[in-house]
Amino acid sequence: MGHKRWLVLLLVLIITAIAISGCRQTPDTTPPEPQQQEENQENQTDAIREEWADSAHATVTNADSSNSPAKRDGCIICHDGRAYNKQISSADELDTGEPVGADCETCHTGHGKEVWQSGLVQLPAGEVRDGGGALCMDCHNARSIPDPADRPAPHASAEADIVMGINGFHVEGKTYGSSPHTAVKDTCFGCHMADLGKGYPSHTFRSELETCEQCHKGIDSINMKAKDDYDGDGTVEGFQDEVDGLLKMLHDTIQARLEGGTFTSTHGRIAFMDEKEEEMEEVPAELYHGAWNYYLVANDGSRGIHNPLYVVQLLQQSILMLGGDLGEAKQL
Ligand code: HEC
Ligand code: HEC
Ligand code: HEC
Ligand code: HEC
Ligand code: HEC
Repeated sequence: MGHKRWLVLLLVLIITAIAISGCRQTPDTTPPEPQQQEENQENQTDAIREEWADSAHATVTNADSSNSPAKRDGCIICHDGRAYNKQISSADELDTGEPVGADCETCHTGHGKEVWQSGLVQLPAGEVRDGGGALCMDCHNARSIPDPADRPAPHASAEADIVMGINGFHVEGKTYGSSPHTAVKDTCFGCHMADLGKGYPSHTFRSELETCEQCHKGIDSINMKAKDDYDGDGTVEGFQDEVDGLLKMLHDTIQARLEGGTFTSTHGRIAFMDEKEEEMEEVPAELYHGAWNYYLVANDGSRGIHNPLYVVQLLQQSILMLGGDLGEAKQL
């Protein structure tokens, strides 16, 4: 082999080496230009604004009705973000203008920011100190405590009570527990405001499956298969279906005790009707307490996910208290 050939081969090798090292880019460690940074932030705020605009917080409850809770004394403090922020409960005290839902200012300034940072909130059922989720609990709570004399109903937003495992009616002699979900960091934030890989906390306010995966490997549905048959229908279904089954059983057990009568939640109270559809004045306390637990779980909106152990215990014990039959159900 002549010298020339070796030389050519060497040259080719050197060129290839240079070419390869040139392709491997050195990581860019210089911070983005201030202008770029500003642009990124603007894009992020736009994305957050879009998610929020599609969420329930951007709508005012029954906005078109003159009876909307965003226009009524006592209701506006949760149903109008400005009223909440200034802690105003009289509609006259609030400036005029169209009501707003829970907007950016509601949570990021004023009273909202204070509650968020303090992690402390006063609920009708007592004080809760458990991180940032206090902000959500300030509005998302049952608004009342059980009272068989006045018979209040839990509000449509009983989430805080169920998540914290408080405010249900407890049967004497039975101990109630809470599921490990209560320990999720910042409670509500942990599941409803997670960073889903987009670089900012989600503002759809929905809880997505991704947030469950860190603890439930391989989970394929929010309605994940239960560990056991809690409603005693002989099959192990999705956990939310088990809870629906228990809710129906409790409903039917209360109805059966009313012998042709019915019960309903209306104007913030639980009303019991006799077989002539007339409201009953005397109602046994245990029927009211069973109905309270029924609405507390139903109005929580998560079909048991917020606190699986507490919800199964509340429903099963209420059914047994009222003489219902759980069959072969796994009792917790
Ligand atoms: C100022 C009171 C207020 C605060 C604070 C608040 N919410 Fe809400 N939220 C509401 C109201 C009122 C609605 C119902 C709006 C409507 O009529 O659609 C709602 C609706 C929702 C819904 C949709 C419910 C449904 O049935 O579709 C979710 C989920 C939710 N909120 C989660 C949260 C979370 C998580 C937080 C804390 C980060 C929070 N909220 C903080 C008042 C509040
Ligand atoms: C402590 C805060 C708070 C107060 C006070 C409050 N609400 Fe609400 N309300 C909520 C929240 C939060 C929701 C959203 C519940 C959800 O979707 O989970 C809601 C939902 C509702 C809904 C929708 C129910 C449904 O099933 O879709 C109505 C109607 C309503 N409230 C009426 C009222 C009225 C009327 C008042 C005053 C008498 C009132 N609220 C006072 C927090 C409150
Ligand atoms: C219901 C309450 C609520 C509303 C309404 C809301 N946010 Fe947030 N926002 C939060 C919470 C809670 C976090 C932090 C979540 C976490 O860190 O786990 C957050 C985080 C953020 C962040 C990330 C930086 C930071 O401050 O932590 C930005 C930016 C932001 N929000 C912008 C907005 C904008 C813009 C709007 C209106 C379009 C808005 N938010 C509406 C509750 C809210
Ligand atoms: C362990 C995770 C987790 C935690 C913690 C959690 N949530 Fe949820 N939440 C869920 C899931 C899952 C659902 C049901 C969604 C479904 O069925 O698709 C839900 C449902 C809801 C709903 C009803 C939504 C609807 O569309 O009807 C509201 C409102 C809500 N949560 C608010 C809260 C509040 C307020 C807190 C804190 C007090 C909280 N959540 C804590 C996971 C969580
Ligand atoms: C921080 C960890 C953690 C997160 C996040 C979490 N879970 Fe759990 N979950 C647990 C633990 C621990 C248990 C108790 C397991 C046991 O009983 O063996 C549990 C129990 C449950 C149960 C009760 C099962 C039964 O049949 O008794 C259901 C259903 C459930 N989780 C669903 C969910 C869903 C849906 C999400 C997401 C929205 C979620 N979990 C998020 C840790 C978590």
